[in-house]
Formats: sequence, C-alpha cells, structure tokens
Amino acid sequence: MWQGVPMPGTKAPSAAERVLRVLVFSASLQTDSLNTKLAQLAARHASRLGAAVDLASMREFDTPSFDPDSGGIPAGALELNRRLTASDAFVISSPEYNASMPGLLKNAIDWTSRVRPQPFHERHGLLLSASPSMAGGRGGLWALRIPLEHLGARIFPDMFSLAMAHKAFSGDGLADAGLQQRFELNLRAFLELAEAAKNYPCMKKAWVEFLGEPPGMPADRVEEA
Ligand code: FNR
Repeated sequence: MWQGVPMPGTKAPSAAERVLRVLVFSASLQTDSLNTKLAQLAARHASRLGAAVDLASMREFDTPSFDPDSGGIPAGALELNRRLTASDAFVISSPEYNASMPGLLKNAIDWTSRVRPQPFHERHGLLLSASPSMAGGRGGLWALRIPLEHLGARIFPDMFSLAMAHKAFSGDGLADAGLQQRFELNLRAFLELAEAAKNYPCMKKAWVEFLGEPPGMPADRVEEA
C-alpha cells in the first residue's frame, strides 16, 4: 500500500488510483482449458490480495493471421491493447505447443505490437503455464518471454508451471498444499513488485537492461529515473 510523499509538482494519488490493476487471461481457446483454470485461480488470488482484476478470455483477443496488407489492425488486437492500457500489469497463463507458445498468442502479440503507443512497453508481466506433461509447459514460457521482453515488458523472473495439470486441481485451488503455497508466493511477489513500480517511481531504476547497442540507439531500453 502506498504510504510515500508525492513527487514535487504532483498530487498524492487517491486510494482508488493506488490499487494495482491487473489483466489476467489464458492463451487457450479450449472449453475445458487447464490454463484457463490456472488463470482463474490467479485472478481469484490476486483479488484476495487487493488487486483490481480484469479476467479476460483469449476469445476476445483472437486475431486473423498477421497481414500488413489487410487494411488495419483487427478488433482482437485493439481490444488487447485497450485492456492492457487500462492495466498496470498482466498475467498470462499459456499452453505449450510443440515446445513454444501457441501461434494464436504470438499472432495477437504481433498485431498488438503495431499499435502506438505500443502497450507492452514498461508493463509488468507474470507468465504461468499448465500442461499434462511433467515439465508443465515451461518451455513455452521461455519462448513467450522473448517477444514480450523485446517489446519492453517487465517480465517477472519467476514463472509458475503446473505439471500434470489434468490431476493438479482440487475444488477452487491446487490439490497439493505445498504447490498452492508456492503459486500464491509467486503471485504475491509479482504483485508487490508491480505495485511498488506503480506507486514508487524510484523503483523503476531497478529495471536496467543492456542489450548490446551503443547508448542512444532507438532500441536503448535503459530507463530514466
Ligand atoms: C500440445 N501439448 C503440449 N504439452 C507440452 O507440455 N509440451 C508440448 O510441446 C505440447 N505440444 C502440444 C502441441 C499441440 C498442437 C497441442 C494441441 C498440444 C499438450 C498441451 O499442453 C495440452 O493439450 C494442454 O491441455 C493445452 O492447454 P489447455 O488448452 O488445456 O489450456
């Protein structure tokens, strides 16, 4: 919770303005999706921790194959842009397809990256996955990090992958109490960092990346305090 003094020349944010707004969605269109279950679990827990959660469906962000000649940005990408822009942070629970992210998610990211201002830039993101496999879809999340970090999103270092997910849910949580606790800690750590970055701008100094370009290039992503 914000307890600081306002920056010179600014007024203190109201209690409502200080609340962290989080977009949560699963990147699966499947009706009985394991990732949708995990996204719902994340949404419920984030709400309990005090965040204002916008739980979305991938169906709202679905896009036709990227085609720069199609005459404009499709409705799904405009909607993803609108919902990201209205949020301080996002949580994606993504299936792993063939050791990578689903094509529909990459396609939606590509379309949305054409909107200006580009909405992933400087937004905090947490990546989750669920799979029946023993690795829980982890490989897909490493692939997903790449375009999101390229676009300037602040992807939380710790990711959560739910292995054997078809057997992992029980009631409105995870059957394994230790796993449930790890999930809650991971989510909480992410929300605390995103909340600090929102309400304590000096925290932004922590996000310094060196991508190898000479300073001053358009791709330079070192943040100013
Ligand atoms: C998969 N699945 C899968 N799982 C995995 O752990 N690693 C993988 O590389 C793949 N590859 C893969 C490719 C394709 C085309 C499909 C359809 C599926 C299995 C996948 O994790 C499983 O179907 C999940 O249940 C999908 O997530 P949702 O839709 O349940 O959220």
